[in-house]
Amino acid sequence: MELYRACYRSRIKWDKMRLPLPDEIDKTLLRIRRINRKAGVTGALLLVDQHIIQVLEGYTGQVLDTVYCVMNDPRLSDIEGIIHEPADFRLFPNSLMFFRDLTDGRAAAQHDVLRPLLDHPGEVTRDEAYLAFSHFANELQQGRLTNEMLMI
Ligand SMILES: Cc1cc2nc3c(=O)[nH]c(=O)nc-3n(C[C@H](O)[C@H](O)[C@H](O)COP(=O)(O)O)c2cc1C
Repeated sequence: MELYRACYRSRIKWDKMRLPLPDEIDKTLLRIRRINRKAGVTGALLLVDQHIIQVLEGYTGQVLDTVYCVMNDPRLSDIEGIIHEPADFRLFPNSLMFFRDLTDGRAAAQHDVLRPLLDHPGEVTRDEAYLAFSHFANELQQGRLTNEMLMI
């Protein structure tokens, strides 16, 4: 079966949040990781100012079903597709949904590849999204290698 990758940016509808933001994030991550485990979907979610940017990876049907769920979530609007294509491998093979809050700008100040995500009132390009998500995928990979070396 073919692997597929979808990535999109979406505006957050603050008035549709039921809880304070940190609680809403915790609860949503718990829920979506549970659903993604069943669907075999992995990926990453970045919180960026007024937007979220998410990458979803898995078998084509499962990823497209997930995109459909996200598109129908009342907490999001103005969904812009960034990547929609078959994939040779997963960038986040072990993450049911990796999460980073980039809103304070600290990570972007340290890593140039993250800056276009914050600076852009306009569209985020495919290349910019790949560079930013690859940054986190590499970070996870490095952590795994270190853990393997230390046998932890
Ligand atoms: C920022 C964000 C990210 C989401 N990511 C996923 C996801 O990775 N997988 C998924 O199945 N649903 C995802 N969703 C969709 C919601 O989790 C889904 O619409 C919600 O769980 C509805 O189901 P429920 O009413 O049964 O909880 C996401 C929603 C939001 C707001």
